Amino acid sequence: MITREEILGWLREEDPDRLDELYKRADAVRKVTVGDEVHLRGLVEISNACQRRCAYCGIAATNPNLTRYRMTADEILGCARQAVQYGFGTLVLQAGEDPGLTGEWIFDLVKAIKTETGLAVTLSLGERADDEFAAWREAGADRYLLRFETSDQSLYEAIHPSLPGRVSDRLALLRRLSELGYEAGSGVMVGIPGQTWASLAADIVLFRELDLDMIGIGPYLPHPSTPLGSGAFPQAARDEQVTGSEETTTKVVALARLVRPDANIPSTTALATLDPARGRELGLLRGANVIMPNLTPSRYRVLYEIYPGKAGIHESAEVYAERIKSQITRLGRIPGKGPGGRRKERAYG
Ligand code: 5AD
Repeated sequence: MITREEILGWLREEDPDRLDELYKRADAVRKVTVGDEVHLRGLVEISNACQRRCAYCGIAATNPNLTRYRMTADEILGCARQAVQYGFGTLVLQAGEDPGLTGEWIFDLVKAIKTETGLAVTLSLGERADDEFAAWREAGADRYLLRFETSDQSLYEAIHPSLPGRVSDRLALLRRLSELGYEAGSGVMVGIPGQTWASLAADIVLFRELDLDMIGIGPYLPHPSTPLGSGAFPQAARDEQVTGSEETTTKVVALARLVRPDANIPSTTALATLDPARGRELGLLRGANVIMPNLTPSRYRVLYEIYPGKAGIHESAEVYAERIKSQITRLGRIPGKGPGGRRKERAYG
């Protein structure tokens, strides 16, 4: 089992030949555990309203320069039908932490999607009440995504302030989501100002300890209308500060694959944004097995600006979906069929 010290060694490794070994190992593990299928999850950004004040995020409540929207149930069902048409097995409903999306409304929406399409449904709606998590599971939701962002408690508190009277404890919520029978997904940003190599190694160890079903990893991308993006936060000491590069991000993808061999790991949009030419592909070659094509109608998509310059922002969903499928095939991989849930491979855990 790879140790925390070895993980830290890989994170600090700069020799391209040695890194090639890491990437080959991760790709080999990916092949024997989750196979050559690349699962496609249609992403719908259903609301950009948010009550949180996260210092890194462009749709935080603190950004006054943003038009807010909330999609209607009919619009979202339209996206679900598109997902079916393009052969995606999963619909991901993501939003800011928006109290205007009531528990009941989401319940009805999940029920409607499950009844009409039979798609697997993943929710990514932030930190919500326990009874809501339970009810949405009852309605048929299969998975929940909630990144812990960083395992460094003081950095987390600085960039992700709790709501008054409610401590943000995402690890507790993730355990609870698993208990309720969700497949639970989490992950981190790579290169947050103040994030150290040691804390990033600890993040990866935590992927293993939480037995995550899904792990999303993207580079931190500065958004100018945020406190973090305007340089208000200090960097860690020079040798300690994580660089949010493509290399570091794909190292973390590879290490995530080694510590959680059977997890579903996306090659993220943030990685494709950092390197539009090769980001998506490098993720897939270094451990990832999932892509999340964006199905949000373009008039809303431009407003879901968690970071600037998001990849694929002006493409039609159809073109985007087709391009991703041919990219998968060119890599010798197979566009996934079916819901693509986690198949637990205890032997490798
Ligand atoms: N850069 C990169 N990723 C970001 N996220 C939010 N803001 C940014 C940013 N500026 C990520 C967070 C969140 C996910 C939905 O998007 O990790 O959990």
